[in-house]
Amino acid sequence: MNYRHAFHAGNHGDCLKHAALVWLLRAMQRKEAGFLYLDTHAGVGRYDLESGSAARTGEWREGIARVLAADPAPLADWLALVRASRPAYPGSPALAAMLARPQDRLALCELHPEDAAALRRMFRGNNKIGVHQRDGWEALRALLPAPERRALVLIDPPYEAEDEMASLAAGIAIARARMPGAAVAAWLPLKHRAPQAGLLGDLAQHGVRDLVLAELALRPPLDPARLNGSAMLIANPPFGWEEGLAPILAALAAVLAEPDGGWELRRVADE
Ligand SMILES: C[S@@+](CC[C@H](N)C(=O)[O-])C[C@H]1O[C@@H](n2cnc3c(N)ncnc32)[C@H](O)[C@@H]1O
Repeated sequence: MNYRHAFHAGNHGDCLKHAALVWLLRAMQRKEAGFLYLDTHAGVGRYDLESGSAARTGEWREGIARVLAADPAPLADWLALVRASRPAYPGSPALAAMLARPQDRLALCELHPEDAAALRRMFRGNNKIGVHQRDGWEALRALLPAPERRALVLIDPPYEAEDEMASLAAGIAIARARMPGAAVAAWLPLKHRAPQAGLLGDLAQHGVRDLVLAELALRPPLDPARLNGSAMLIANPPFGWEEGLAPILAALAAVLAEPDGGWELRRVADE
């Protein structure tokens, strides 16, 4: 377990993931009934960008710093939460906790002992938020289906292990099988096209349907040695996904992409 998200906090990948996550949470909250937010790879919850690991790489200067400076209207909802969290940068658990209503519940899984302990400290005393130091893949079986009968799952692995794309396909399939009504979102690195094509092939083999891919390419994904962008893959997206997500992607691309980059929102498996 070498991966430390602090080195990458607030980079372009986080911008896509977190802007899309806020949109997903809002879309889930259009219905009054409460839901479970399950974060399988939760990290430490929030990040100090001005010192330590994040300051050393400075990836956030090409990410959230630029987005905050441009302040595009379609990103206002997420950016308000980012500003409210200052001086820290809010990760996925912090965003979900800020938006949670009394009827919603959070289950946050993090395997790294120090990170899990930090998360626990952050949410101590909040009985709607459970922090689990456990394997996020295994949690999909253990924590689904949710008694609430509604769930949003975020799968955001570090992609350190070579087989993590295969684990992702299996994980999405397990979540969909355990709880067919759940919306399942996963963040994917975009280096070149082959891993994504392999993932979609694996998902088809698992029989997973109803998939939408939201992609932010900083530049054409041709160099497998570079992180050329990233994507969010969403299974069973909430109603109105396209109208809501397209302006968010367009705004991110306008600020973050190079002239030959761009964004795309497309259905990759039918309902
Ligand atoms: C990309 S980071 C998560 C960032 C977080 N979702 C956010 O947006 O703020 C991935 C995290 O997964 C953790 N991790 C790695 N393998 C895991 C596993 N099998 N189960 C749960 N957590 C794991 C790492 O320690 C790391 O903190």
